Amino acid sequence: MRTFSKGLEGVIAAETKLSFIDGEKGVLEYIGIPIGDLASHSTFEETVYFLWNGRLPTRGELNEFTTTLRSRYDIPGGVESLLKTIPTTAEPMHAVRTLVSALGLHDPKPNAIDIPGIRDRALSILAQTPTLLAYFHRHRQGKPLVRPDRSMGLSENFLYMLNGTKPTAAMVKALDVCLVLHTDHGLNNSTFTTRVIISTESDIYSAITGAIGSLRGPLHGGANEGVMKMLNAIPSVAACEAFIQDKLAKKDKIPGFGHRIYKAYDPRATHLKVLAKQLAADTGNMELYEKSTAIEAVMNREKAAKGIYPNVDFYSATTYHCIGLPLDLFTPMFVIGRVGGWSAHAIEQLSNNRLFRPDVDYTGPHGVAYTPIEKR
Ligand code: ACO
Repeated sequence: MRTFSKGLEGVIAAETKLSFIDGEKGVLEYIGIPIGDLASHSTFEETVYFLWNGRLPTRGELNEFTTTLRSRYDIPGGVESLLKTIPTTAEPMHAVRTLVSALGLHDPKPNAIDIPGIRDRALSILAQTPTLLAYFHRHRQGKPLVRPDRSMGLSENFLYMLNGTKPTAAMVKALDVCLVLHTDHGLNNSTFTTRVIISTESDIYSAITGAIGSLRGPLHGGANEGVMKMLNAIPSVAACEAFIQDKLAKKDKIPGFGHRIYKAYDPRATHLKVLAKQLAADTGNMELYEKSTAIEAVMNREKAAKGIYPNVDFYSATTYHCIGLPLDLFTPMFVIGRVGGWSAHAIEQLSNNRLFRPDVDYTGPHGVAYTPIEKR
């Protein structure tokens, strides 16, 4: 049977036990647990363990998992040397895509795709992606690298390596909640990319490198940077209405709004809105938060009837800004979190693999006469 759906809308391309989305009701669950419960009670490390193993860990299992993860924070020396050759003007998303790919060059068995092999490599990529990003950020600023501290969890250690100072508990918690909320989300574009690549029985480095390329796009994970640029471009809360109306009149899309699956409020945005408000109040960024709610109010009036609501990227922009992250590290935060989900999907795909190979509808001509080059 051949069916066509532009952008594969409505097409079921895989089975998963990882995350469930009800786009009409605004529900997201990881293996049955509502996302809000995980954001409130779990850590990023525990959430990844949960997705990779299909159940929450005992205290002992979590300790073992985090200890192994922390033991892998350091990146290979060859990757560090390569990192130092990257132009300081490069975007972090381009840098991290190249560096994750380079991790595979220093793995004696990069092609191991048996399930233990994939899990082992995914654990290293999960542990080292924050190091790659923090090191690149220090390198481009001309600052000395700050080595990982294995006494710290992934979020705390990342902020420590980035800034060279121990972050506050509130900042660590905020980043950790963001990572939990970004870990998995059905067959989004970058997760689909992961599954497509691994379905050829290629390797996990190729799959995650491809996924990072997919995530970078402004229609996907790149939207959080678009949101921040928009917030920066609007001079005041009072100017939000005219700014948005002007963009809508030009048929521009407003970054951080709309979703292929959600036609209700994205439950991740619900959680991030609360977090953004608290952080904005704590860090003197209330105007940024108020601009966001003013934009939401206009969009609510103009577009909610069409099912266009804030998505995960809208309030994550304010949240990341309040954590003190520079704008071009917003989408890389999505990478750190989503490595957990991409890896879970690679494991799931390989557990019951079939090559992805859809068809196309050919719309070109037939029977065209070949014209020799001298007669063209
Ligand atoms: N602002 C204004 N109008 C919008 C928006 C928006 N953000 N999003 C969708 N619409 C409108 C479109 O103009 C279109 O209107 P029309 O029917 O009158 O032509 C209609 O809603 C359907 O939009 P599509 O782009 O066809 O929907 P699609 O499912 O293909 O795209 C997408 C979803 C890409 C997320 C879209 O909503 C968008 O571009 N949003 C802005 C970028 C963004 O925030 N991306 C992050 C998504 S979440 C994530 O990936 C992490």
